[in-house]
Amino acid sequence: MRTHKLVLPVVVSAACLAFGANAMAATWKMAIGDAAGGTQYELGKTFAEEMDKRTNGKIDINLFPNGQLGSEQDTINNASMGILDLSILAINNITPFSPSVGVMTLPYVIQGPEDAKLLTQGDVGKQMTENTIRDAGVRILGWAYSGCRRLSNSAKPVASPSDLKGLVIRVPKNEIMIASYQAWGVNPSPLAWSETFTALQQGVVDGQDNPYITIDAMKFYEVQKYITESCYVFSLEPLIMGEGAFQSLTPEMQTTVIEAGQAATQHSYDYLLTSEEGIKTRLVEEHGMTIVQPANDEREWIEQATSIWPRFYDSIGGKEKLDDVLSALGREPAPAK
Ligand code: MLT
Repeated sequence: MRTHKLVLPVVVSAACLAFGANAMAATWKMAIGDAAGGTQYELGKTFAEEMDKRTNGKIDINLFPNGQLGSEQDTINNASMGILDLSILAINNITPFSPSVGVMTLPYVIQGPEDAKLLTQGDVGKQMTENTIRDAGVRILGWAYSGCRRLSNSAKPVASPSDLKGLVIRVPKNEIMIASYQAWGVNPSPLAWSETFTALQQGVVDGQDNPYITIDAMKFYEVQKYITESCYVFSLEPLIMGEGAFQSLTPEMQTTVIEAGQAATQHSYDYLLTSEEGIKTRLVEEHGMTIVQPANDEREWIEQATSIWPRFYDSIGGKEKLDDVLSALGREPAPAK
């Protein structure tokens, strides 16, 4: 797997300046890849409120949704260089910078919100935080839980991988996700998230996958008709801060930032559980989308996609890393190479 090179820090962010020796009022900028109304925005808004409350208004966080501050992958570079304070982005867009995070996007590893919570809030989540600091120069402060990624398309009901034939599907620039579609017999089109709506609208691609909440927030129902209720990847969206900026904070402020991230994470989990079903109903009843159930209890999807696991053992740090994750989830070890 290709690892993106990071450029050395050249500029100092507001967070770096805010809490060196003396705490003073500051405004931090937070990039958000999705539109307002999604789980990323909900996490960001809650984090901002928590920071406001916990610092008596000293830290004001401005949210910039809809990729206004650049593509999700660009915001990692910018946070690590110290020219952006905070970003919320999908985990699949961190993997190119910190390949071990890929264990979270291997198909059918995380099978629902409980799995996602257990991993992110346990030892695996701690290790992900250490690895992204080491590899990408950014610290994970919190997690948005967005739900299973559902395949949507504008052309026809898709129940089996063979139904994908003839469809052009957009995927993030993530080698594991590209390989998953290849295992299902199609060559997907890797495209930045910020370009996805336009590509769907103009018919450059026929489909994509993302959770119900994201499909709704991004108004994909305007350009997509069918949703397949499969769950090959659970969408996790970390809130990150440049490690240089974090280290420039006083110890008290570091604790405040960490605790605000934990509170926002808990809110995100509750938000998913209380809102996803209603959003799914709205996509059908108000926006006329059709939900298709995967054939044979998703068996072909699962068998074909999980056959790619061994190809990624090296990039995620060894088969034992996946086995640790599976064991934490109470499942059998992964197959040998
Ligand atoms: C992607 O598909 O690139 C991301 O999952 C989108 C997102 O950030 O919600």
